[in-house]
Amino acid sequence: MQKILITGGTGFIGSHTVVQLESIGYECVILDSLANSRPAVVDRITKITGKTPVLVEGDVRDRACLDAVFAAHDIDSVIHFAGLKAVAESIREPLRYYDCNVSGTITLLSAMAKANVKTIVFSSSATVYGEPDFSPIPESAPFRPASPYGKSKAMVESILTDLTVSDPAWRVALLRYFNPVGAHPSGMMGEDPAGIPNNLMPFVCQVASGRHKTLNIFGNDYPTADGTAERDYIHVMDLAEGHLAALHYLVRSDAPRLTIANLGTSRGHSVLDVVTTFARVNNTPIPYQFVARRPGDVPAYWADATRAEQTLGWKATRSLEDMCRDSWNWQTQNPTGYIG
Ligand code: NAD
Ligand code: WQD
Repeated sequence: MQKILITGGTGFIGSHTVVQLESIGYECVILDSLANSRPAVVDRITKITGKTPVLVEGDVRDRACLDAVFAAHDIDSVIHFAGLKAVAESIREPLRYYDCNVSGTITLLSAMAKANVKTIVFSSSATVYGEPDFSPIPESAPFRPASPYGKSKAMVESILTDLTVSDPAWRVALLRYFNPVGAHPSGMMGEDPAGIPNNLMPFVCQVASGRHKTLNIFGNDYPTADGTAERDYIHVMDLAEGHLAALHYLVRSDAPRLTIANLGTSRGHSVLDVVTTFARVNNTPIPYQFVARRPGDVPAYWADATRAEQTLGWKATRSLEDMCRDSWNWQTQNPTGYIG
């Protein structure tokens, strides 16, 4: 029985990954500061899987806490989700982002080295590519992160890469997620953003539920088929399965020290595609208006996810319809998220 430490495991992507890990027999220990998540997530995980993961409330920057976790649990591998992820906030508060995302990861890696746990899957982001020269984006595309958040992901990728050069025992997977959306199909787990959502799908859900009157679509003058920006939306359950595939791969005897893979669907959808698909599959109107472009937004990008398929044996299978249906199912069952 493999025991996995999941930092940030009560968050959006982490919680879905814990469910998938537990459902195939892994034991999970979650370390989360609850800075952007709620302990109630653990009850939902238990309801879905019949198993309760250990939750340690703690910060990845707290070395003593990490040492205690590794001493108390016989951890085999780590999946490192913990971090801050709001692009605009990172521009206002760069030190907070570098401290949490970069210093936090260094502290985690030092504790892992001491405990002789040297297998890690890291949550990177397509944001490291910035505005790409073309799509689909291969892993070899140059890095052009445009925010402290994106730069923090690029820095951690460098640190992890250096670590694999320094010591042949490390097995590292850098997974670059595109735009994660959707929810567990039960409707019991999903994305629960604090305050007014910045991201498209949570905002669309809140328009559908009547919490906001209108969706502002940022820009309809992009050089795309319908003029609205295109992204590679990926279902969070597909993403969770991508982590399982990475873990399986890293423990293979022939696994290289470093594995880098995009996790996306290899296709782009426009903002209008999301809005019209959501309205159609959920039979709910989404009033919208076009407003100016959002500063910093890239016109269009999507993944070349062939490497994940060839190396990890993983491919996204869920459609935009699934993403819209599951997001709305979560929203209607939990109008105020995990509280209420
Ligand atoms: P999330 O905010 O829902 O989850 C992150 C979790 O980490 C939260 O539960 C939060 O409480 C916890 N956390 C934050 N700082 C911590 C710290 N210092 N110590 C311990 N716990 C801490 O975010 P998510 O969407 O699930 O993202 C997970 C990871 O994936 C993040 O690293 C994020 O940067 C990355 N990522 C997310 C997206 C996205 O659009 N959601 C895209 C690409 C990459
Ligand atoms: C998608 C599209 C908006 C809200 C962000 C981060 C990125 C990654 C994923 C972590 C864009 C448009 C949005 C709204 C809109 N996260 N939109 N009205 O910006 O592609 O990526 O999340 O690594 O780093 O930047 O995602 O969901 O915010 O926007 O028209 O109210 O929807 O302009 O074209 P984005 P998003």
